[in-house]
Amino acid sequence: MTSAELPPLSGKVALVTGASRGIGYGVAEALVARGDRVCITGRNEDALKEAVVKLGAERVIGVAGKAHDLDHQSEAVERTMEAFGRLDHLVNNAGTNPVFGPIADLDLNVARKVFETNVISALGFAQKTWHAWQKDNGGAIVNIASIAGLAPSPFIGAYGVSKAAMINLTQQLAHEFAPKVRVNAIAPAVVKTKFAQALYEGREEEAAASYPLGRLGVPSDIGGAAAFLTSAQSDWVTGQTLVVDGGLFLNAGV
Ligand SMILES: NC(=O)c1ccc[n+]([C@@H]2O[C@H](COP(=O)([O-])OP(=O)(O)OC[C@H]3O[C@@H](n4cnc5c(N)ncnc54)[C@H](OP(=O)(O)O)[C@@H]3O)[C@@H](O)[C@H]2O)c1
Repeated sequence: MTSAELPPLSGKVALVTGASRGIGYGVAEALVARGDRVCITGRNEDALKEAVVKLGAERVIGVAGKAHDLDHQSEAVERTMEAFGRLDHLVNNAGTNPVFGPIADLDLNVARKVFETNVISALGFAQKTWHAWQKDNGGAIVNIASIAGLAPSPFIGAYGVSKAAMINLTQQLAHEFAPKVRVNAIAPAVVKTKFAQALYEGREEEAAASYPLGRLGVPSDIGGAAAFLTSAQSDWVTGQTLVVDGGLFLNAGV
């Protein structure tokens, strides 16, 4: 997007974790498109820099680091405040799912790592965003959970348990941070990203067959939902988990 094509500034600022590609990038893109200024994070510095340029370096900064690293969390929040002077919205998107197999044989150190990245990091970013800006000025938080947190998910059990925890964390934060800050979650089904590639690559039509809306998700589907949950259109919505799944859950009753 050239400077001339940029939308008018909305006056709002967002921090989106894990946003050099995939769903986080789709969320950042949706927020920039409505005029927000955005800080994105990710581990790989070069990929992050490329994403900043693609999104528009006039309005986007990148802070590289691991989501669970407390110093990185502080740096991301501080640099957002320095660059833009405020921090209205937090989208906790960075997540991991490093193992596939029965939970009976799960290495518990791996389970700890999954929780550290998917749940504790989200809480850490929420605490820091709350203290830096939101507790006095308001805003919104969106946690990217998963439908794996809503029903048993064979072979990705630890991931499912962590996303269920994220959904409860959403409710806890929504209760504690009200009325200043609204906190909601999004539970996507399969979205076409690097993270989910193994679930559909080479057999996308087959994978999409069980989706009533006839296709898998794309990052902009989640971007649209996150834009809604961080806008005035959802001003009376908090503690909710918005399932964005192409209708997949409708099959549960069949
Ligand atoms: N895709 C799906 O089907 C799906 C469905 C439901 C929920 N989700 C959730 O959506 C979120 C994003 O997934 P995605 O599919 O967009 O994944 P993705 O395409 O692999 O993108 C992940 C992004 O997060 C960054 N990242 C990964 N681990 C990180 C960490 N520990 N600290 C900081 N940044 C990190 C990656 O950059 P670096 O590698 O450079 O760090 C990248 O920018 C995850 O929480 C996932 O659980 C995905």
